[in-house]
Amino acid sequence: MENTEKALKERIKELTCLYEVSSIIVNADFEEMDEALNAIAFSLKNGFQYPKHTEIAIETSLSAIETGNINKNINLTSEIRVFNKTNGAIIASLKNDKSSFLKEEKQLLDSVALKIGNLLERIEIQRNETSLKRQMERSDRLSILGEITAGISHELNTPLANILGFAELLKNDHSKDKHISEDLDKIIQNAIFSREVVKKLMFFACEMPQEMQKVNIVPSIKNAVTLLDASFKKAEVKYIVKIEEEKLFLRADTIQLTQIIFNLIINAIYFSPKDGLITIEAFQSKNEIIFKISDEGSGLAEESLEKIFQPFFTTKPTGDGSGLGLSVVHGIVASHDGSIMAENNPQKGATFTVRLPKT
Ligand SMILES: Nc1ncnc2c1ncn2[C@@H]1O[C@H](COP(=O)(O)OP(=O)(O)O)[C@@H](O)[C@H]1O
Ligand SMILES: [Mg+2]
Repeated sequence: MENTEKALKERIKELTCLYEVSSIIVNADFEEMDEALNAIAFSLKNGFQYPKHTEIAIETSLSAIETGNINKNINLTSEIRVFNKTNGAIIASLKNDKSSFLKEEKQLLDSVALKIGNLLERIEIQRNETSLKRQMERSDRLSILGEITAGISHELNTPLANILGFAELLKNDHSKDKHISEDLDKIIQNAIFSREVVKKLMFFACEMPQEMQKVNIVPSIKNAVTLLDASFKKAEVKYIVKIEEEKLFLRADTIQLTQIIFNLIINAIYFSPKDGLITIEAFQSKNEIIFKISDEGSGLAEESLEKIFQPFFTTKPTGDGSGLGLSVVHGIVASHDGSIMAENNPQKGATFTVRLPKT
């Protein structure tokens, strides 16, 4: 009789604990997970047969908390799984080496581990949604910018061609007058420069005609690296090319592909410190060719990360950069149905990853 009563009492304690854990989880603030896990741990402690002698530890990928010293000799462990992967564990331990756990206590621990796992899954889903939303907003803004720049560059093309054409005509007429000739040269040079800017804008807006064909990205990378050898030397920057396969074929416009590689390497060189190492990689997955370049430079500031692909965004001193390089790259990558991602390395520097579909 006494036993039944005791068992019943334990059962009630366990149910109370489960109920408490559920309400902690329902009310959990995703930003304050430590608090919620702490409350769960203490609630579990009280749900055990000998609360005073029981200590609980909860370890997850987000945090680790414990109610007291864990006795390594006597303990129960339940795995916390998130999307079917081990993410952490709950450990219950008894101080007193002579006592032991009840079968129900293991079940209790398992159910709480399951609940925590569900909570972590919800947090992860929410985080993914937020980042997806941000990405979509960004690409929206970029495509609007793309349309605007396409319009502007289109409008500028004709008058620029006229300026250039008439200046050249005038130069022919006044070839004997040195002073006029020199002034006309300046007009011509500036018009050519502006035409280049417009060309880049058109790249960004994907107004350039594309010639898609099957190309091997490996020689394109090797050529670019060879051509930039002098730039590497001048900047005193080292590089390593990690390509394991000689053939990495994809459908792309060869010139545009080269432009992607060039722009990314030039940036990496510019932002590398003396003796910095630039790592250039290319490999394939089932459906994609992946081109990766990372440097040991300053990396990207939080507020830059959002803007680097926008035309005219630059952190270079005036005169050094147009802020068009990455927007051109972004435009080309988008027109190839690929994606580009910029991130900071754990130690230092930035990594740019370009993924292009093979077909
Ligand atoms: N490898 C890199 N490391 C750090 N910052 C970079 C890197 N590549 C690009 N950026 C940032 O992105 C900005 C835009 O780059 P880009 O579009 O190529 O224009 P520009 O090179 O003319 O500044 C740079 O000014 C810089 O702030
Ligand atoms: Mg650049």
